[in-house]
Amino acid sequence: MRLNILFFASAFLLTTHTVWAAGARPLPSFTAAQARQGEEIYESTCAMCHGSKLEGNFDTPSLTGRFIQNWKDTPIIELYAYIHRAMPQMSPGALSPEDTTAVIAYILEQNSIQAGKTPLSTQPKSLRLQFIPHVITNNK
Ligand code: HEC
Repeated sequence: MRLNILFFASAFLLTTHTVWAAGARPLPSFTAAQARQGEEIYESTCAMCHGSKLEGNFDTPSLTGRFIQNWKDTPIIELYAYIHRAMPQMSPGALSPEDTTAVIAYILEQNSIQAGKTPLSTQPKSLRLQFIPHVITNNK
């Protein structure tokens, strides 16, 4: 009986801890379907510069590893605004709002962030409340 209580108590602590961490910096939420749509857009409009594995090249930054280090704790809206305004570099502004969130979903997924049930919204109000998390990836 005492063991049961202890088990219950530690499960409770773990739960509250997780809720607290997520509450401090809500993780971005996107669906697997969005990431697949984003992958197609990425392959056709971004990969020729940023590389098919998001690895970048001598004059184009990678979109994994250090990229996440640079952008961590930034509200998604800033990444959204940047991509929407400046990329793809040869025709900035060409991506629709939905294409932009899809490509962000793909970039997040490629940085080991799990897809979920809630799509990444194109609403600024929602994009302001989600943040690029700290993720540890291979140093690419
Ligand atoms: C013609 C080449 C080219 C294409 C195509 C291109 N980019 Fe870029 N991208 C660049 C360059 C060059 C930079 C660095 C710009 C700078 O530092 O001013 C950059 C920067 C970025 C950054 C900021 C990286 C950082 O470390 O802060 C993001 C995000 C990005 N691109 C996303 C995309 C996405 C998404 C697409 C496709 C929709 C795309 N790019 C297409 C060349 C390109």
